[in-house]
Amino acid sequence: MTEAHGAAHAEALLREWTNNESLVKHGLAVAACTESYGVREAERLGLTGAEADKLAETYRCAGLLHDFDYDRHPTPEEHPFVGVAYLREHGWPEEVLHAILAHADYTGVKPESHLDRALFACDELAGFLTACALVKPSRSISDVEVSGVRKKMKDKGFARAVKREDITLGAELLGISVEEHIGNCIAAMQGKAAELGLGT
Ligand SMILES: [Fe+2]
Repeated sequence: MTEAHGAAHAEALLREWTNNESLVKHGLAVAACTESYGVREAERLGLTGAEADKLAETYRCAGLLHDFDYDRHPTPEEHPFVGVAYLREHGWPEEVLHAILAHADYTGVKPESHLDRALFACDELAGFLTACALVKPSRSISDVEVSGVRKKMKDKGFARAVKREDITLGAELLGISVEEHIGNCIAAMQGKAAELGLGT
């Protein structure tokens, strides 16, 4: 049994609900990036020890769970509403549910809190960085650099499903430059490269 409402529990739910392995990897990548903003936010708030860890874990949970219902319920009528209803019924914190609702632009819920903004900002970018890594001969995130990502963002034919304007808006919501945001997320994903299947 995993600890209720912790990251291990969130990851178990993601894996239980998701047969598509790249969607599991997407959840893990978004979790790594979003968690890194939780660590930064904890620092900014002057939190240390268990309090800092708890905040970062909340961010990680939002990343792990933002698409956990997508494999079973991919339509905009159901995703992420079915997942959020399940999580609410099982006592997950409202701040996590709000962030999950706010990551999809059609829910009517806007990114407000720092967690909402971080999740929104990391979702499309994590997918884009994965695509950038997978076209490297090494298929490794360690070979992905900010300048190359910026170039690929301008290449309309590359990873067409990723909305560039959401990456730009995400950085704006976080109050940082797109370059800084890309650098932060590359570093976060490099720290979890093996689990993401993007090198060692
Ligand atoms: Fe996503």
